[in-house]
Amino acid sequence: MDQTQLTLPTWHLNDKEYALLCRYLNLTPSASIYPKLAKYLGRMGASRIPLFGFDRWLSEIRPGPWSLSFLDIWTRLWFRSNPWRFKLNAMVALHECDGVGFREMSRQSTGKTRIWLEILGHSLGYGFHFILGCFWLIFQFVSFGVVRRNWKAEERAFAGKTVLITGISRGLGLALSRHLLALGAKVVGVSRRADLLEKLKNDAAEMGLGERFLVGAADVAVPGAVSQALSAMGISPSEVAMVIINAGIKTPFQDLIDSETIRRTFEVNVFGAAETLQALLPAWKQKGRGHVVFISSLGRHHGMVSTGAYNASKAALSLLADSLDLDLRAQKLHQIHTTVVEPGLIHTQMVQNQGLQRFLAVDVDKAARRILRAVGKGKSFYRFPKLFALLTMAVALMPQRLRRAWLSQVTSTERIDRQ
Ligand SMILES: NC(=O)c1ccc[n+]([C@@H]2O[C@H](COP(=O)([O-])OP(=O)(O)OC[C@H]3O[C@@H](n4cnc5c(N)ncnc54)[C@H](OP(=O)(O)O)[C@@H]3O)[C@@H](O)[C@H]2O)c1
Repeated sequence: MDQTQLTLPTWHLNDKEYALLCRYLNLTPSASIYPKLAKYLGRMGASRIPLFGFDRWLSEIRPGPWSLSFLDIWTRLWFRSNPWRFKLNAMVALHECDGVGFREMSRQSTGKTRIWLEILGHSLGYGFHFILGCFWLIFQFVSFGVVRRNWKAEERAFAGKTVLITGISRGLGLALSRHLLALGAKVVGVSRRADLLEKLKNDAAEMGLGERFLVGAADVAVPGAVSQALSAMGISPSEVAMVIINAGIKTPFQDLIDSETIRRTFEVNVFGAAETLQALLPAWKQKGRGHVVFISSLGRHHGMVSTGAYNASKAALSLLADSLDLDLRAQKLHQIHTTVVEPGLIHTQMVQNQGLQRFLAVDVDKAARRILRAVGKGKSFYRFPKLFALLTMAVALMPQRLRRAWLSQVTSTERIDRQ
């Protein structure tokens, strides 16, 4: 998905899926229909969230040719408000209004024998898919049953809640917003770039999200900026149920040491977090509830060539979070929770899409999904991907000389994208 697009994940149709749907419906993909379809699905999605239970499970399936035919059958028969039903119906409707699509759909067979053969072929094909589809549906139902408890916890954790996200304009922050909106949360966000914020406002207006998605300009490193942005959006701190401290920068050193980079990185990644907390914690202390999610990094466990400022700032952030949790417990504020998330690499602007990073980085939407599942389950700590986390722990425990010799080789071949 485009990393600056607001479309809700289960209502988004990527170009590969569009091509798959075209193949399934015997239609020719059209570059002019695809954007109209995306726009229609965006509006429908926003008016029909949240989607719960097994319906949501089906909506999250990324189909292949077989499962698409099963989804087609079952959403016709039982799950009529599932996004896949809207996607298939909208495909047919939009292609019908297009010259090529209309001709393709109104193609008629001639000759009685041929027509009867086609009817027979369709009936046998449908029956065959129906029988296979029964097994498929049972399999999906059992799989859903296994994870149902977690799904319910996730739905309870976010539906109807107001969540503040810092660094909302792109990357992980925006992916988290899309998923939170799909789960029925109200999302409030801040970041700096005016053009991206304007685009998000337009997307939200086009989708008809209204008050459910609000964004404002703030540099988290500036004292008081988050509070000001919240009041400009008409949001009181006590209304916010959860904050995701996500805004962050990563700038490589130009030389061996670069005090300006270190200062600016700490201002955003550490002081920015403190400023955000300052805007909310007094109100949360009074109401006795709240949840802080810190987006730290696995990089906080060891140094790396040229990104010392970033890794050190994330180490400080994780420790700040740990200490905050202790303080909350000491003050018996047990209903204010903290979650520290330490991801490996995620495909965003922060990471270069080449070399080792390309293979190790996970898709930003998958990352957002995993983070929200962990937060929904009430985890106080979450590191992912698991293999990356294990590797990081192993590296951190290596004898120091060996670790430094190895890391200086591995990380020096990679250049980290500038902000
Ligand atoms: N990508 C990864 O591999 C990875 C791995 C581990 C952890 N993380 C963490 O995940 C978080 C999100 O990173 P990302 O990969 O999504 O990076 P990204 O694509 O560069 O996005 C960073 C976001 O933070 C905002 N931001 C930056 N400085 C800000 C400031 N001073 N005030 C307000 N907003 C600010 C940016 O918007 P503006 O520029 O418009 O302000 C942008 O929305 C960061 O904390 C990062 O450290 C990322």
